[in-house]
Amino acid sequence: MGLDVSKLKEIVVQYSGKKGMLIPILQKIQSIYGYVPAQAIDVVAEELSISPVRIYGVLTFYKQFYLKPRGKHIIKVCQGTACHVMGGKEILEYLEDKMSIREGQTTEDGFFSLERVACLGCCGMAPVVMIDDNFYGRCSVQKIEDLLKRFRQ
Ligand code: FES
Repeated sequence: MGLDVSKLKEIVVQYSGKKGMLIPILQKIQSIYGYVPAQAIDVVAEELSISPVRIYGVLTFYKQFYLKPRGKHIIKVCQGTACHVMGGKEILEYLEDKMSIREGQTTEDGFFSLERVACLGCCGMAPVVMIDDNFYGRCSVQKIEDLLKRFRQ
């Protein structure tokens, strides 16, 4: 499906005339589409008169950007030291098996994306999993299984 090019151009225009606006433009695009589509890269490159390769360089350098659509729900499994010690690795492996994807991937139905994160900042609740904007502490495989069922209902 093609994107609305005029909408993309509007976004770029909002930032025009200012220096160092590439990242804010890409962030804005990602906030709208959930990722930065290839077509958007072409439009931004043309509007800013910079090479698409340079934009790809920025997108792949910063971990905050996604080049593919993400799932409806984002599952982040903490792999920081405290969570790792408390079973975070087993939870991540369980989720990879259960959903038949690897971390960094999205289920075929587009329902879940699975991500590994370094520390969610609440180590006292280890192991921690975040689904969308909610934190789930003292997780176990059983707790995660119940959560997945709830999300699927
Ligand atoms: S190590 Fe997992 S929240 Fe800090």
